[in-house]
Amino acid sequence: MATWRDVMLPGGKHPWHFFSQEPDIPALLLANRSGAPERRRELAAGLLAEPAMIPPKYFYDAQGCALYQAICQLDEYYPVRCEAALFQQFRGAIATHIPRRAQWVDLGCGDGGKSWPWLAVVGASRYVGVDIAEEWLQMALRDGRRRFPGVECIGVVTDFTQPLDLRTVKATSRKHPPVFFYPGSSIGNFSPVDTLHFLQSVQQHLGEQGQLLISVDGLHDPALLQQAYDDALGVTAAFNRNILRVVNRELEADFRPERFRHQASFNTDESRVELSLVAQETHTVSFDGQQRRFEAGESIITEYSYKYSRAGFAALLEVAGFGHIRHWQDEAGAYHVFLASRRQLS
Ligand SMILES: C[S@@+](CC[C@H](N)C(=O)[O-])C[C@H]1O[C@@H](n2cnc3c(N)ncnc32)[C@H](O)[C@@H]1O
Repeated sequence: MATWRDVMLPGGKHPWHFFSQEPDIPALLLANRSGAPERRRELAAGLLAEPAMIPPKYFYDAQGCALYQAICQLDEYYPVRCEAALFQQFRGAIATHIPRRAQWVDLGCGDGGKSWPWLAVVGASRYVGVDIAEEWLQMALRDGRRRFPGVECIGVVTDFTQPLDLRTVKATSRKHPPVFFYPGSSIGNFSPVDTLHFLQSVQQHLGEQGQLLISVDGLHDPALLQQAYDDALGVTAAFNRNILRVVNRELEADFRPERFRHQASFNTDESRVELSLVAQETHTVSFDGQQRRFEAGESIITEYSYKYSRAGFAALLEVAGFGHIRHWQDEAGAYHVFLASRRQLS
């Protein structure tokens, strides 16, 4: 069982706030996660911007997490099936390149479900779930401990839009190199510039033997993308509009989700799917002592999902300092998995 001592740094100092010392709850650390005042400032600034925007990290309250899981069951949402098939087919081959007894660091772990088939195959010594959604992370850790009693399970609550700070991984990386696992093609939610910064900060945590195993969604027919992000059952629409409930709570705002329509469109020039909420009628929303008038037809941007060619993403990895880049793809060549380590200085 992980305790706060397990994750304390050499020298007895610990820069993070630790919470939850109940014996049946695995250790959770808070690292670089904004408090309520910063979240309010960020949300208010986004709502007053032109165009208005709400960062996608606010999707994941309990209802948002449940709706995301429902999206993963949809016929239209091809990335889940492509990724599952790729992992199923190539798990053994990929695992041969991963050091035994590694620390398995699950970035944006959600319920952790995509990690479980890997832990036994790679003989991981530790599971580190990393996510902004605390409750989901707690569930993942409990599930991990139940399935793998011999594997230490700890969690880090953090916000990837802040500099990545996973010192607990670094502190023991000589003995047990980290494998950063970033599935779900979630990397596509960063802009290309932020993607580069994020990859660079992961690269700085790798040490000599660490690896990054990452899924990346490729280039598709816009009609397929349209269906995937605007499904017939309206689950993605509910996921998108739920963000307004989160804003209402965080910001004491008075959004009425039914006044906004879900919209998904593909921006060819930027190679990204754009999710937005479009006001159905002109009205004014109040939040945090401020107001914003939305004209009928005006949008709030909630998420971008960038799509990459194999060469395009490999180039980003190289610029971020990765080398030994291995690649697997589905039959259509439109969903990618990369395994990469730090480029050795010659
Ligand atoms: C699309 S879900 C993927 C979940 C799971 N890894 C999978 O592939 O099914 C994205 C995950 O990233 C987390 N997340 C989103 N934005 C984040 C941020 N800024 N910092 C940390 N985690 C974030 C969410 O809470 C969620 O668990």
